[in-house]
Amino acid sequence: AQLAGCASAWSGPEGALPEAIAACTRCPLHRAATQAVVGEGPKDADLMIVGEQPGDQEDLSGRPFIGPAGQLFNELAAGAGLDRRNAYVTNAVKHFKFTPRGRRRIHQRPNSSEIEHCRWWLDAELAEVKPKLVLAMGATAVESLTGSRAAVLSRRGKVETGRGGEPVLITLHPSYLLRLPDPQARADASAAFQEDLRSAVRMIS
Ligand code: URA
Repeated sequence: AQLAGCASAWSGPEGALPEAIAACTRCPLHRAATQAVVGEGPKDADLMIVGEQPGDQEDLSGRPFIGPAGQLFNELAAGAGLDRRNAYVTNAVKHFKFTPRGRRRIHQRPNSSEIEHCRWWLDAELAEVKPKLVLAMGATAVESLTGSRAAVLSRRGKVETGRGGEPVLITLHPSYLLRLPDPQARADASAAFQEDLRSAVRMIS
């Protein structure tokens, strides 16, 4: 649904999107975050990869997926024949949501309102890049792109139709793999994740 008082789509001049996202105050998350983290990669990429939101390191550096989740992603992607540099990599939510605990900043999952406010920017990125396929990693990306909050574990590996009609391949989030305490469970989930990355490569070839 369209948010009250807002136009239905961003329509700034070409090339102005990163600056517009950087100046975003559409939801309260911009107040505590260091900066908005804009997507990166070729503007004509066949594959768009969507994560949840920047983490601590991404918030400080301004680049998506450079921390532990990004490093695991790079490793598993390379093993699946996917070179991240050929994809446009972004997040469903552009600001880091956290609660301070001492000197640490503890990640908080964005809520549906924050996801909905930030979908404005994800839609603008989709309109600019026009990927052949979108890879949605984890529940937040899946909710933003498909509008459905149904469990990701039972949907992974499948292609659903995104809100704008784009094909969305659903997969797990690399942070989920990092959080699995049992080595066998982690190996199994990583294998499933890599299988999805291989499917993505096949679908855009
Ligand atoms: N997790 C995400 O979803 N995105 C990032 O950019 C980093 C960690």
